[in-house]
Amino acid sequence: MPSRILLILVSCALSVVTGLVIARGGAGVAAARQRPLIGLSMDTLKEERWQVDRDLFTAQVQAAGADVLVQSANSNDAVQLQNVESLITQKVDALVIIPHDGAAMAKAVNLAHQAGIPVLSYDRLITDCDLDLYLTFDNVKVGELQAKFLVDRIPAGGKLRLIRIYGAKTDNNAKLFKQGQDNILQPLIAAGKVEVIFEDWAEDWKPESAKKITNAAITKNGPNFDAILASNDGTAGGAIQALTEEGLAGKIIVTGQDADLAACQRIAQGTQAMTVYKPIKSIATQAAELALKLAQGKPIIARDAVANGKTDVPSILLDIVTVTKENLRGTVVKDGFRKESDVFQSTQP
Ligand code: GAL
Repeated sequence: MPSRILLILVSCALSVVTGLVIARGGAGVAAARQRPLIGLSMDTLKEERWQVDRDLFTAQVQAAGADVLVQSANSNDAVQLQNVESLITQKVDALVIIPHDGAAMAKAVNLAHQAGIPVLSYDRLITDCDLDLYLTFDNVKVGELQAKFLVDRIPAGGKLRLIRIYGAKTDNNAKLFKQGQDNILQPLIAAGKVEVIFEDWAEDWKPESAKKITNAAITKNGPNFDAILASNDGTAGGAIQALTEEGLAGKIIVTGQDADLAACQRIAQGTQAMTVYKPIKSIATQAAELALKLAQGKPIIARDAVANGKTDVPSILLDIVTVTKENLRGTVVKDGFRKESDVFQSTQP
């Protein structure tokens, strides 16, 4: 039997057993080029975290002797597709995409594959296509930790009256965060221990959308609620602005995600109760290493698989941590993600 067919059969068998990913294309061009070239297509740089992702990813790729082309689409799907087309034209050896809209970017993955370029989906899932690899955090667990934090604070014999602010409908992660929250809340809602008095999705994760949702909830219900389940720190910030206007800041339990600096400061001050820390350093540096392996056609071990509507995508899910006033120093400060002086600056006499 010709050796190439034997190799494919063995690698397929191996990939099933170990979650091994054998990269497509890439290798040819990378081999020719001195330094591999990685394309990074981003949804936006509006939220603080994405600027950190970009910088850490770029530094890691350059440290490994390769180059990066970064394009940001400002939350516009047509622009993101154009970005990907231009990166393909520039013959990148591998593509890393943070989709604004997971479904809209399926076309981008197909175009990349037609050019023999492998694609890594970063943090957010691209759906309905033969995606090569997905690297993210345990997003369902993010939602579970946010909801668990609230239900652990239901007063004895009491009830928790809740406003829920979900993320962007275009973002598959927003649905996974909600799913995790529902896993914890649904039984308690059924038992009458939790009452959702208002809920909505924040367009494009905008803080101003979250503020509007909170204003509408207060207009409808007055100040008669106990907590806001905000899906990330940006939306938590918008909600807390509305609470501040009503003299309710610090009296309502507010959740978050991302450990933005402003959120860590609010937690130190007491106007936000928690956030979920997702070590950006680990996702950015691992993404750089994986993108280079894809570019050079090197095998990758991916122990998880996430169904994206077309296939079970080989995936790597990273762990996360709940951050509260009590463990700010032991988590984001200890990890070097936040400086103690920055976080506690506003609480100093
Ligand atoms: C999600 C991401 C979160 C949050 C949000 C807004 O996809 O997982 O960390 O930042 O986007 O950008």
